[in-house]
Amino acid sequence: MDEHFDWRRDEFQQIGTDYASVEEVAVYDRRMRAMRDIDAENRAILKRLKLKRKSAVLEIGTGTGAFALEAAKVCAQVTALDVSEVMLEYAAFKAHQEGLSNIDFRHAGFLSFDYPRHAFDAVVSSLALHHLPDVWKLVALERIFSTLKPGGVFYLFDVVFDWGNSDPEEYFRKVVESQPESRANVAMHIAREFSTTDWIMTGLLARAGFVVESNVRSQGFLRAYCCRAVAAAEE
Ligand SMILES: C[S@@+](CC[C@H](N)C(=O)[O-])C[C@H]1O[C@@H](n2cnc3c(N)ncnc32)[C@H](O)[C@@H]1O
Repeated sequence: MDEHFDWRRDEFQQIGTDYASVEEVAVYDRRMRAMRDIDAENRAILKRLKLKRKSAVLEIGTGTGAFALEAAKVCAQVTALDVSEVMLEYAAFKAHQEGLSNIDFRHAGFLSFDYPRHAFDAVVSSLALHHLPDVWKLVALERIFSTLKPGGVFYLFDVVFDWGNSDPEEYFRKVVESQPESRANVAMHIAREFSTTDWIMTGLLARAGFVVESNVRSQGFLRAYCCRAVAAAEE
């Protein structure tokens, strides 16, 4: 019998929080702004990337488009991907409201985007890579490396735990308690999504060929990695 076992990851299937739901998208910006200083995050990314008018920028997992919209005020063209069509529609609506017509919104993700090698100067992803299990994170990181120009920058911001091998009960309880407004969401994130540890993430980034130029922790469980695709420059 010719059996077919599909081992590929279906990245369009939402895990944990359902970002394909209209109800979630409607409250997303408000919920996030209660937890994060998104304007400060975007300022830090733009400062770090030193984007120019001609820079080709790709954002993966754009959500409601907060970063893509800011990048589109600096760069002539921005590409923004998400696996949720509802999120993309909402982000495109916001862009339209702000009079921005230079963002190419696409329904695709880390594992399905299809751009040539060396197409982008910079790739940015915030709070999205944790939707993939670690093996698939590595696949995603290698694809990002390949689509960056030699010397290009990958800015990764995500929930990444500092947990090593201490008591998981105590560690994760503290993580949940650190967000009194969003305890249920944080607990679901830990239980169902695939946030990994810093030592695994730095290993995955190195394995994909990136040099991590900075690794900054904030709010206990958020990490910003600014990485350069250095090896590509030596090809
Ligand atoms: C927590 S939101 C982050 C949105 C935005 N980047 C931010 O910082 O607010 C996660 C987003 O990642 C998207 N996502 C989930 N899996 C993805 C994948 N494999 N590829 C691209 N985007 C993905 C979700 O649909 C959702 O819009």
